[in-house]
Amino acid sequence: MTASNATATGHKKNSRFKLHLKIWRQKGKNEAGGLVDYDVNDVNPDMSFLEMIDVLNQDLIKKGEEPVAFDHDCREGICGSCAMVINGNAHGPDTGTTTCQLHMRRFNDGETVVVEPFRAKAFPVLKDLVVDRSAFDRITAAGGYVSVNTGSAPDANAIPISKTIADVAMDAAACIGCGACVAACRNGSAMLFVSAKVSQLSLLPQGKAEREERVSRMVWQMDEEDFGSCTNMGSCAGACPKEISLEHIARLNREYLRATVLKKDRQASDSGNG
Ligand code: SF4
Ligand code: FES
Repeated sequence: MTASNATATGHKKNSRFKLHLKIWRQKGKNEAGGLVDYDVNDVNPDMSFLEMIDVLNQDLIKKGEEPVAFDHDCREGICGSCAMVINGNAHGPDTGTTTCQLHMRRFNDGETVVVEPFRAKAFPVLKDLVVDRSAFDRITAAGGYVSVNTGSAPDANAIPISKTIADVAMDAAACIGCGACVAACRNGSAMLFVSAKVSQLSLLPQGKAEREERVSRMVWQMDEEDFGSCTNMGSCAGACPKEISLEHIARLNREYLRATVLKKDRQASDSGNG
């Protein structure tokens, strides 16, 4: 086999191979679920993982069986909806990769692959591989925005921002809200997600006006949603397809402390003790 007609794991180009899948099937939110065995005999190494499940679903539909429910939208690493755990890894074995960007050439002929939904108290399973990640939407709604109360938004280019700050804010803005950080954390913590949103906005001049209220409200909402505490294990960053840095969690902690101290100062001065 030459380098030109073989993939990294030795699949010949345009060849087909077999996979044995164990997929979590669950009819509904309050139903018991379990792993069900499936064989897929026509896997192209160049397919994405989602396309491989499409092939399985076509087979299931032809046989009159219920297809596997899974979330997907953009299929190019942007929307964050393709949440699943593959062989114990949120978004599969490759770093910096969403499930929709994971290629089947990463797997070997005859391999058994276990596919499960994201597991976290705050992300209940709705059906098969689909989980309810609306807790993230509620955290974002609590403060993950910049208010523009009158007139039109100022021209972004009119506000000078240093390249260093812009780069860090852009890195934080890469978060796609997929939830892999929560699924990978043994505490089910959402700190990496919240830290990315808080960092992105608190670093930029446009986000500074609501800086304290934002971090207080987002952290409060995170706690309301039953996410666990961060114990600095770092599994979140390891699973993040956008490689969001743990430095953002440190910034979130600083922002939260700052907001708490300023609030206490204000309360003391309002009561005449300041
Ligand atoms: S921090 Fe990473 S893993 Fe967590 S939601 Fe954002 S992109 Fe997904
Ligand atoms: S389907 Fe949009 S990121 Fe995977």
